[in-house]
Amino acid sequence: MDETRIQDRSGAGGPGLAELDERAPSHAPRIRGGVASPTVHDSGLKHVTGAARYTDDEPELPGTLQVFIAMSPKAHARITRLDLAAVGDAPGVAVVLTAADIPGQNDYSPVFGDDPIFPPLTGDGAIVQYVGQPLFAVAAETEGAARAAAKLAVVEYEDLPAAVSIDDAVTHADEAGADLLPAYEMRLGDVGAALEAAPGRAGGRVEVGGQDHFYLEGQVAYAVPMEDGDVFVRSSTQHPSEVQHNVAKMLGLPDHAVTVELRRMGGGFGGKESQPALFAAVAALAAVKTGRPAKCRLDRDDDMEMTGKRHEVRIDYDLGFAEDGTILAADFAHVVRCGYSSDLSAAIADRAMFHADNAYDLKAARINSRRLKTHTVSNTAFRGFGGPQGMVGIERAMDEIAFLTGLDPLDVRKRNFYPAVGAEPATTPYHMKVTDCVIGEIVAELEASSDYRARREAVKRFNAGSGVLKKGLALTPVKFGISFTTTHLNQAGALVHVYKDGSVHLNHGGTEMGQGLFVKVAQVVAEEFQIDLDRVKITATTTAKVPNTSATAASSGSDLNGMAAQAAARTIKDRLIAFAATRYHVAPDQVVFKPNRVLVGNMEKRFSDLVGEAYLARVSLSSTGFYATPEIDYDREAASGRPFYYFAYGAACSEVVVDTLTGEYRLLRADILHDVGRSLNPAIDMGQIEGGFIQGMGWLTTEELWWNDKGRLMTHAPSTYKIPTANDRPDDFRIAIWEKGENRSETVYRSKAVGEPPFMLAISVFSALTDAVIAAGEGKAFPRLDAPATPERVLKAVEEVRDGL
Ligand code: MTE
Ligand code: MOS
Repeated sequence: MDETRIQDRSGAGGPGLAELDERAPSHAPRIRGGVASPTVHDSGLKHVTGAARYTDDEPELPGTLQVFIAMSPKAHARITRLDLAAVGDAPGVAVVLTAADIPGQNDYSPVFGDDPIFPPLTGDGAIVQYVGQPLFAVAAETEGAARAAAKLAVVEYEDLPAAVSIDDAVTHADEAGADLLPAYEMRLGDVGAALEAAPGRAGGRVEVGGQDHFYLEGQVAYAVPMEDGDVFVRSSTQHPSEVQHNVAKMLGLPDHAVTVELRRMGGGFGGKESQPALFAAVAALAAVKTGRPAKCRLDRDDDMEMTGKRHEVRIDYDLGFAEDGTILAADFAHVVRCGYSSDLSAAIADRAMFHADNAYDLKAARINSRRLKTHTVSNTAFRGFGGPQGMVGIERAMDEIAFLTGLDPLDVRKRNFYPAVGAEPATTPYHMKVTDCVIGEIVAELEASSDYRARREAVKRFNAGSGVLKKGLALTPVKFGISFTTTHLNQAGALVHVYKDGSVHLNHGGTEMGQGLFVKVAQVVAEEFQIDLDRVKITATTTAKVPNTSATAASSGSDLNGMAAQAAARTIKDRLIAFAATRYHVAPDQVVFKPNRVLVGNMEKRFSDLVGEAYLARVSLSSTGFYATPEIDYDREAASGRPFYYFAYGAACSEVVVDTLTGEYRLLRADILHDVGRSLNPAIDMGQIEGGFIQGMGWLTTEELWWNDKGRLMTHAPSTYKIPTANDRPDDFRIAIWEKGENRSETVYRSKAVGEPPFMLAISVFSALTDAVIAAGEGKAFPRLDAPATPERVLKAVEEVRDGL
């Protein structure tokens, strides 16, 4: 899809849109903004003009208090004294909150019960386990007053030994004879024997760094005390139900006493799955203790120090291969740095394992994973949920096999792809048959459209004639499993009202974080009723309308909520059909929904008129809808089953140039071909592909988290933590949605999830950098290169290959 094809940004659809979708007959009248139209994000204009309201933009009620959370300066210490008298006496302070004030459970963890809101002040619990851990909170008339008061606290500590790095974590875990979470293993075939028998072996280690979410809107929660001790909370969260549950649990109240609402987030990226519960709990506690509304809003530095990040993973790999590059066996050992508590680490480390194979048929495999504790913030979900880390391992191994065999890396990759749709399917290391594999077709198309072979030659010529500057080229695939691997999470609910004027109110359990979920689900409902998109009102997510929701995560937002909303709309539509058939004495199949009209036998009515008649006839015009993903079933105990409903595929080709004197580099050109099935909204999907790729590139290149030996994160602001800017976007950037895409599983309009998969396309940049460094060493050595491949690391790698190390 080129620029002109997504140029219609006038809003819902418009003339000519039907012809953008070859599947829609271009002569048929269409509703504006239906399924498959490249409709602009419902909030796009509001985002760029500042009119979009985020949690902190909602008007504050009179008497609102501002909450500041005081943080531990110690990585691991026992609190021997905490004297807050002066804090409470400071000007403007309404209340000081510690663990002793919590009426219910002192915990905001998602699963394991090991995230205290504040450290208990007595006994074994009086310890802090990372720099940035909340100690106590102050609610005051202004944020400045709260911050100033917190400084008056007298805290004394007794230092305890701290594990900061992965090396420390391994040492501590081995000494203690215990990991934070039990190790886990997946096995396919006899990997030991297959490795022994293999003619070639590639082995090594790659360290894969973490990543800060850097959502533009930081963590924030606003709590309002209601009657009967109930609490209303606005929270910037991907998981309103979990915030609700944690606030209730903390207050010792039933879930029904707490309502959580949000219209949108300014980015979540996984950082607002489990983390927001802390800030909501603290705001709610302040509200309940004082009877006044309370807001807890973090500034950037505090947010970066206090909240969890992508997991850093150490990957040891050992692959056996044949002379032609065919992989015969693969052995991976992951060491996952979880931080101080469990959070979502078990599922994240599992997903790293689920993607250790990426798109490759490994034949025999062992994937082992250890989940270790460090005295740093508890790492959490981040776009890809561990998958990206797992994939870096095998893509690195692919580059090494190509180096060892002298084959082109693309040929090695192609040789190992899972068999295509229709061929005898191969089995993943978790014993799922891959039946929907289209990676071969996608890569073949991209190889041609990106002119890979000619550019490979051009890169070689360039490198032969250039001493200081060296170029690198790489084309890498992505295969990403869609579904929560915790099977019960794959469910969603929706609520649809049709008002008697024919306008529609849409609500569902998904949350909007910029990814365009709301407009997609609204398109589905508009399509179902055959009404223009502007007749469908998109509304804020609230636990009061749709209960027991899962986080908007695992890229499953539109798959799940789209289906649930469609089910709700169908229920109402069926009632309208039954009503019209009875009233006008026609068969139900003679009631046909046309754009903004309904045909009832020979009669044509406006949709709104039929709705008005149905209302007068006392037909219910409101319905819930529910969806549960079928067919999935994973037995974690046996490490076997079908965790994913389907896979999303894509490929990217990146070309870089490296300055071998400084290690600095640029991405010159990137070509992407990505499979979104039948797109619900190609404009939104393009945005997700481009944004995901750039965010992935930031992770693998410039975004470096660095803790000092005292466990303090030193890169806690944009001055020291470098996310990509517009300037890092390649000048030549060619993104296409795969035209042949179609989901073989029965998803909503055969679309595929798009939120996370494109993130991993950026591994092509990392591989291209590897390629350039190999060239810098005249092809004599395979470089050591860890992620992020910062200019410093690239320079070091260049020096190592040139020194023949
Ligand atoms: N896109 C934007 N603009 N902002 C975000 O926070 N989060 C990503 C992805 N794309 C994110 C985003 C992550 S981590 C996920 S899991 C999906 O969106 C969630 O939304 P979906 O399920 O509706 O795709
Ligand atoms: Mo996304 S990491 O599943 O929120």
